[in-house]
Amino acid sequence: MATPELAEWKVCEMASTQLTPEAVLHALRDVNDPELNRPLVELGMIQDVKVCGGAVGLTVVLTTPACPLRAQIETEVKGAVKALAGVETVDVKITANVSKGVRDGAINLAGIRNVVAVASGKGGVGKSTVSANLSIALARRGARVGLLDSDVYGPNIPLMMGITQPPQPEGERLKPAVAYSIKVMSMGFFIKEGEAVIWRGPMLHGAVRQFLGEVSWGDLDYLIVDLPPGTGDVQLSLSQSISMTGAVIVSTPQDVALQDVRKGIAMFRKVGVPILGIIENMAGHICSRCGNEDFIFGHGGAQREGEVQGIPFLGSIPIDTQIRIGGDTGKPIVAERPDSPISKRFMDLAGALAGSISKSNFAHQAMMMPPVS
Ligand SMILES: Nc1ncnc2c1ncn2[C@@H]1O[C@H](COP(=O)(O)OP(=O)(O)O)[C@@H](O)[C@H]1O
Ligand SMILES: [Mg+2]
Repeated sequence: MATPELAEWKVCEMASTQLTPEAVLHALRDVNDPELNRPLVELGMIQDVKVCGGAVGLTVVLTTPACPLRAQIETEVKGAVKALAGVETVDVKITANVSKGVRDGAINLAGIRNVVAVASGKGGVGKSTVSANLSIALARRGARVGLLDSDVYGPNIPLMMGITQPPQPEGERLKPAVAYSIKVMSMGFFIKEGEAVIWRGPMLHGAVRQFLGEVSWGDLDYLIVDLPPGTGDVQLSLSQSISMTGAVIVSTPQDVALQDVRKGIAMFRKVGVPILGIIENMAGHICSRCGNEDFIFGHGGAQREGEVQGIPFLGSIPIDTQIRIGGDTGKPIVAERPDSPISKRFMDLAGALAGSISKSNFAHQAMMMPPVS
């Protein structure tokens, strides 16, 4: 029997006394969300269950379209339903409703579900490169993404994203530039070269708040914020002023960079910003002839540090000429060569980050719920 079309579900007259939507939900009771480790049914992620004769249809609502485990979830759901007596076909639709992790209402972020800061202990580790490619990777996985360049010391996101036109006013607000489906805003559009050197925390704090509130971002699942490098006053005040979902720390494998990572972790912990993960950049070099990966600066330090500190390791990106060229020419590698092995790394990274965000939001919501008496 073929799976019925939507209209046919509505007029289905082959009601069965045994195969009911309740029976389907019961059959799914042990299928967990692999990331949140709780039953999909309990999490409200199984919706719209329909039964018509031996045909079953349902929708799985994930916490992110970038879910790296969607194929696994689909297989498990289908398997569990098929095991029910009388089931002939199972039609599973997968959609996503990104959980909200913006923590307070100080700034009008109504349409923004998550603000994620990308930080690093020092400059030059590839924070902007990672922010740009990660944003595009999240969008390619189906998310609505914005990218805010708040690095007043090196606002090079416009260059990396190939944006030449500054954002235009739209009524009382500013309309972000759009590149590769990403809404982009940069402090670089508004400050003169050299001016940032004298900026202090509160000034930047005010400017970024204004940016967040006065830009017409529209609805976004993820707003990625490229923070200025370092772990000083400026970064601290910024982290406090934006109601962030959490922060991601980018590091190179060298020991010195890892010391900076520790400082970064300590800073975010002090201000209560969850750390969503560590990304290792410029980890190794993949030989273009033989495909071998050579770890010039060592490897695994960021991952070990993450383990020690209980922070997820989201993945590592090798040194690659195409990454640098992509940045210099405003054509990020994930957009320009989406099928390359490097882009695949960024896609995996995006999946891991989205998963970490869902988990962090889930833990936060659970914490805010009143205890069961
Ligand atoms: N994985 C990489 N492989 C090759 N070049 C890279 C990589 N990551 C960053 N770069 C290059 O290194 C330089 C610094 O990166 P950038 O993203 O501007 O760092 P940051 O924002 O941390 O200062 C840029 O020229 C960039 O193209
Ligand atoms: Mg930068």
